[in-house]
Amino acid sequence: MADVTFEKVEKRFGEVYAVRGVDLAIRDREFVVLVGPSGCGKTTTLRMLAGLEDVTAGDIRIGGRSVTHLAPRDRDIAMVFQSYALYPHMTVEKNLSFSLRLRGVPKAEIDRRVQDVAKILGLGEHLQRKPRQLSGGQRQRVAVGAALCRQAGVLLFDEPLSNLDAKLRVHMRTELKRLHHSFKSTMIYVTHDQVEAMTMGDRIVLMNHGVICQVGTPLELYERPATRFVAGFIGSPPMNFFEARLVAADGGAAVELGGELRLPLPRPELAAQAGRPVVFGIRPEHIVLGEGARPGAVRVPAVVDEVEPLGHDAIVTARCGAGVFQVQSEHYAGVKRLDQVDAWFRMERAFVFDGENECAI
Ligand SMILES: Nc1ncnc2c1ncn2[C@@H]1O[C@H](COP(=O)(O)OP(=O)(O)O)[C@@H](O)[C@H]1O
Ligand SMILES: [Mg+2]
Repeated sequence: MADVTFEKVEKRFGEVYAVRGVDLAIRDREFVVLVGPSGCGKTTTLRMLAGLEDVTAGDIRIGGRSVTHLAPRDRDIAMVFQSYALYPHMTVEKNLSFSLRLRGVPKAEIDRRVQDVAKILGLGEHLQRKPRQLSGGQRQRVAVGAALCRQAGVLLFDEPLSNLDAKLRVHMRTELKRLHHSFKSTMIYVTHDQVEAMTMGDRIVLMNHGVICQVGTPLELYERPATRFVAGFIGSPPMNFFEARLVAADGGAAVELGGELRLPLPRPELAAQAGRPVVFGIRPEHIVLGEGARPGAVRVPAVVDEVEPLGHDAIVTARCGAGVFQVQSEHYAGVKRLDQVDAWFRMERAFVFDGENECAI
């Protein structure tokens, strides 16, 4: 069993807290993605788990056993780094088997594992090549393969795809997910890219400033963000936010944006908090363009700033009295800059956050 537990884990570099109060339980064979902006403590968290960095406080356990003070090689972990280093003078086969040879694994066993991994990763025909004779994607696969050959209980990836071009990144994303299905390892994958997090993770751990903001499945984070930060980080284009105030209106509750625009909320209980400063949030994909009333949506007259067609739909930037917002809509044919349009806000998909602590209300 390779379940991983962080308990009150903390890391300080001098006066700087890189990671604070991390409590996290990762299940055996789970695929967990650590995501967050650059500098939020993802790499430090991973390196503490791998034993490459001491913890300042707290405990880390793998399979129920504390590894906090164990050497890296005794932790049953393999890691793929962002700037993966292959040995340029060694063949693919030697690169794959390097750490196994170092550990004195019997030759027959090494050969078996290398053959298995090479087959799964489609490297079988390239085993005798040197890294410089491979494409970027193939080199990346060798780096992943070298970690897989270790057959460690826990596999760690630190932004392994960030040096690849966009198309290859999408391909490798699918490939790594497929690997997770066929390998029996717990996988912890670090990225700053929310799309990778959404598409790959069984669960996402979203970090900011060294602390965990929220842990959940991709859909939980998308549909029930705990804070404005989570709401703004997950989803692309990002959620639109407006400074607003709760008001009572027509026996229910509404948000008032920019002191003029009143949008009724399908949450009458919030009328009791009239006057409270809030942040109103709505995702671009939950605003519809066009004429005619939409059930459950509220009309916001706006002027178009920019249209960015994607084919199936377009990202339209528009402005209303309360500010600028983005719409992702299929109904963009004929819409152009400076047009007056009706933007329909689907209020059942809207969010309200506290104006000060930014927690979801
Ligand atoms: N060896 C170090 N010495 C001092 N500060 C460090 C060191 N490593 C990381 N940090 C700091 O810790 C914070 C978290 O860094 P890191 O874990 O690398 O973030 P991420 O991987 O999320 O981009 C950053 O503020 C970074 O500058
Ligand atoms: Mg990093």
